[in-house]
Amino acid sequence: MNTVDVFDWIRETLRPSACTSDEFIYDDMDSQSCRSLPVVYRPFDPGERWHWVDRGHILDFLFATRGEGKQLLDFGPGDGWPSVGVARFAGEVVGVDASPRRVEVCAENARRLGISNAKFVHAPAGAPLPFEDATFDGVMAASSVEQTPDPKFTLRELCRVLKPGGRLRIGYEALGAYRNGKEREIWVLGIDNRTCRLVFYDRHIDEERADQYGLTLAMSRKDVADLLRSEGRPRTYEGFTVDLLERLRPRILDARACTLRHPSGRTLAAWLTEAGFSEVIPSNGGGPFAGRLFDSLPEERRPRSLEAVEELLAPLVKIVVEMPAPLSLDPMITAVK
Ligand SMILES: C[S@@+](CC[C@H](N)C(=O)[O-])C[C@H]1O[C@@H](n2cnc3c(N)ncnc32)[C@H](O)[C@@H]1O
Repeated sequence: MNTVDVFDWIRETLRPSACTSDEFIYDDMDSQSCRSLPVVYRPFDPGERWHWVDRGHILDFLFATRGEGKQLLDFGPGDGWPSVGVARFAGEVVGVDASPRRVEVCAENARRLGISNAKFVHAPAGAPLPFEDATFDGVMAASSVEQTPDPKFTLRELCRVLKPGGRLRIGYEALGAYRNGKEREIWVLGIDNRTCRLVFYDRHIDEERADQYGLTLAMSRKDVADLLRSEGRPRTYEGFTVDLLERLRPRILDARACTLRHPSGRTLAAWLTEAGFSEVIPSNGGGPFAGRLFDSLPEERRPRSLEAVEELLAPLVKIVVEMPAPLSLDPMITAVK
């Protein structure tokens, strides 16, 4: 089968070298969100559903950590998310990321937005966090713990740096959503105008593990798209057959591999308890709630500014994040130290 052949070919022919996720991809990204994040990169648009969802998530992290006016840690902030949004309501936010590039991007975004109570620091993947025990009132982790080489170690570190009684709010990418056809995918990351990386995902859903292979090509993202189009190939995984990769081989600059653990809600809850948290509370998410609220309001009744949307959402999200959700749905989780 083609899908197996491609992965076997990459492993056997290119012998990719193992690396951490920051080396695999995050250190090569100008923006993780393609500069699409509302408020961080674009003006808030109250007519856009997903801008409401974004606000719902920001308020979720704020309220679930009980972070108003407090000192918060954002683990793996990427482009500064959620730290840059939460900083307006917190005392101080510190973002820690394994990718030096991400740290620079976050700091630049905060500077550009005039946010002075958010700072960003680098900590190498796998190393202890550069903070004393019991430093933070709350910790936010958005799709980041599962990107670390040893998520259980990361959870122990997050517990260590939290004050007793402090709360970790964690969002994570469980793999259940990729069942039925999305187990194997490809993504083309543009690195600069002469280079891109083909990223092949091989998700082992029941094992809660994703094997990722990255082939850096001496071609731009557009060159790759043009090539696929000229040969009438799909831009999806099916377009990248072994014969095409053989032809592209002279342009392959390097091949890397990164394996990640992607816990389901149930697994993560068990890990959080093991890591030392005294209470684990799976609960509803402020983001999806904000989306549903957007849908339920007729257009003329929707508030028309960022401040008014936040004013409407805030008291509701405060309640929503306390409402339990079944672990089988892989919901957001609050863990109390
Ligand atoms: C999927 S991105 C999420 C970014 C952001 N929180 C968001 O939700 O948009 C994962 C982030 O975790 C960071 N990361 C990966 N491994 C890490 C580690 N060991 N320590 C700290 N950050 C790490 C990556 O560099 C990246 O910024």
